[in-house]
Amino acid sequence: MKDVRTSEFVIEFARMATNMYRLGWDERNGGNISYLLYEDELKEYLDINNVVREMPLGFNAKELAGKYFLVTGTGKYFKNVERDPAFNLGILRIKDDGVTAELLWGFEDGGKFTSEFPAHLMSHIERLKVSKNHRVVLHTHPLAIMAMSFVHPLSDREFTRTIWKMNNECIVVFPDGIGVLPWMVCGTNEIGEATANKMKDYRIVLWPNHGIYGVGDTLDEAFGLVETVEKSAQVYMMIGEREIINPITDQNLKDLAAHFKLNYRKDFLD
Ligand code: 13P
Ligand code: ZN
Repeated sequence: MKDVRTSEFVIEFARMATNMYRLGWDERNGGNISYLLYEDELKEYLDINNVVREMPLGFNAKELAGKYFLVTGTGKYFKNVERDPAFNLGILRIKDDGVTAELLWGFEDGGKFTSEFPAHLMSHIERLKVSKNHRVVLHTHPLAIMAMSFVHPLSDREFTRTIWKMNNECIVVFPDGIGVLPWMVCGTNEIGEATANKMKDYRIVLWPNHGIYGVGDTLDEAFGLVETVEKSAQVYMMIGEREIINPITDQNLKDLAAHFKLNYRKDFLD
């Protein structure tokens, strides 16, 4: 067996955690990532019949029974993932009963999956219905997104419109827009259900005063979504109270959508 720490999926995952930490998105234990792994890519690294221990999920994820996830641990710091992946990350399989996680590797201090695992797994369930290649759920606390959520109206339409209008790239990168939750207690099944419900329509979900979720078929794709929203939120916060005299108009966005043949949220433009 090869050492799982030398696998492309652990290396890429850990590099991304470092990158997110360096961007200032993941203070202390802030943020969490889960990455759906395929059995074929795991087999050369792990004996998949060797379950180290079992952990109750706290909800039923039967749609994901038999699926494998590389996931960050609760209370673990993104800044430390690359230095010690086996301590900070775990590889789990969802047991056939749907309510148990089987640990195959990692969490070497006796640790556990992220407290946001309900939101992650429920989002995986919804996104797999939309894309069979879906693999990544990422949650993080980027500075400008958080700041903007304190001062901007919190509806899907209004938040998406403003973000789209702060950066020409946005409507091209996420023509499906941004889903916005009300303030909710984090780490619960309730916020997990609300997040997954938004994931039926969106790949980006804002948790006001807290952070954001992005999903994708690859780590890069999920990261790139959040990165693009964060850039626009930075522009918004940098403009501040100043009058915008050269706006991106609704017509500009329609012209972009026509040029790039985007399947965008038409009801979000006037
Ligand atoms: P965990 O340490 O449990 O992953 O929680 C971090 C976080 O961002 C909570 O929303
Ligand atoms: Zn968080």
